[in-house]
Amino acid sequence: MKLNKKNILLGVSGGIACYKAPEIVRGVRESGGNVTVAMTQSAMEFVKPLVFQALSERPVATSLFSLEEESRIGHIKVAETADALLVAPATANIIAKMAHGIADDFLSTAFLACSAPAFVAPAMNHHMWDNPALQSNLEILKKRNIHIIQPDSGYLACGSYGTGRMAEPSHIVSVLEDFFNLMENSDQKAKPLKNVRIMVTAGPTRERIDAVRYLSNDSSGKMGYALAEICRQLGADVILISGPTALSPPAEIETIHVKTAQEMYAAVMAKSGQAQIIIKAAAVSDFRIETPNPQKTKKSKTLTLELVKNPDILKELGRKKDKNQFLVGFAAESEDVRHYAEQKLKDKDLDLIVANNILQKDAGFDVDTNRVLLVDNNGVVDLPLMSKEAVARKIMDHILATDKCRSIIGFN
Ligand code: CTP
Repeated sequence: MKLNKKNILLGVSGGIACYKAPEIVRGVRESGGNVTVAMTQSAMEFVKPLVFQALSERPVATSLFSLEEESRIGHIKVAETADALLVAPATANIIAKMAHGIADDFLSTAFLACSAPAFVAPAMNHHMWDNPALQSNLEILKKRNIHIIQPDSGYLACGSYGTGRMAEPSHIVSVLEDFFNLMENSDQKAKPLKNVRIMVTAGPTRERIDAVRYLSNDSSGKMGYALAEICRQLGADVILISGPTALSPPAEIETIHVKTAQEMYAAVMAKSGQAQIIIKAAAVSDFRIETPNPQKTKKSKTLTLELVKNPDILKELGRKKDKNQFLVGFAAESEDVRHYAEQKLKDKDLDLIVANNILQKDAGFDVDTNRVLLVDNNGVVDLPLMSKEAVARKIMDHILATDKCRSIIGFN
């Protein structure tokens, strides 16, 4: 079903090759597409609209000026809903009208109103085909990215031999199939994360001590925001759960703002079931004060704070993870980076961990660059110092190259 649900507007203009056009309708439908047929007046001299109506199971457009027809199958509506316009057979006359913007019947008007890719399968006598006027009209169409489906050579209806016989219906249908295949593949290459839901967490959390003070860390949120943005550019449907940062919320990304680790836990758990890839770049506070003072704590000689443990959000995600989820953690370390990263990868059941040494001057918290190790069950990739945007791209390239991710997102 290569033309799966594609709407093809088939324009049939008047030549002897009209008798082959019903085969095109059949071919498109067998390939899973829908066909709406628009016929010129001269096409109706060769084949009755009823034939196309029966095969396409749709009304056939024949007249621009029929009130009844225009209300059922208006030329603008038909043009706007088409995924492709195919004119087959295309006479020298319709080709000339298309090249010069003449709109005096349903088909030529629909062509001008249609922004979908257009295909033309010419059919005519070989002298007409060789005529410079016809050839220069074809050149005009080619320059406007209209696809010309080359006619075959052979015996023509007029009894002579030469080029001008309309390409076989099966070939015409395969040209459409190849076109849509190519479009879908290149779309998948440019936007490999299309229809993939990705959750990214970013920034620090804040744990209240009293009405005016809190515990937090130096995370700026830049790494997580850069990841959210690159995922969006790769076509993903991104949800960003952000701790307090000075960054502006990224455009076109659903962003949930949280402050504390507990709020982040609740937001992540509420949405994690929908995400196929989860990237936990946030620097979550491991501890909190169980009962913060709702007033400002007054000065005293010493102050002892008792901290309780926050939930480990990533560990909980690892515990709940199903086989169709790809889980990425970060490790902020000040020593033995690789060792601790490997430990966290295992302990939290991650598919990848991005580790950095936060004591390096140009990497880690609150700077624009980062130098990270990508650690997974296949080994370690040591990336050089680069911008956080470039690191984000490398992380996504690494994830996209894994078999697990490719099988989750259906990319091959
Ligand atoms: N993380 C989390 N919830 C926490 C603590 C950490 O989800 N309460 C996540 C972070 O978002 C990060 C990863 O766990 O992706 C590792 O965080 P890190 O601070 O490096 O390690 P911890 O697990 O907190 O362990 P430690 O502080 O002992 O190094």
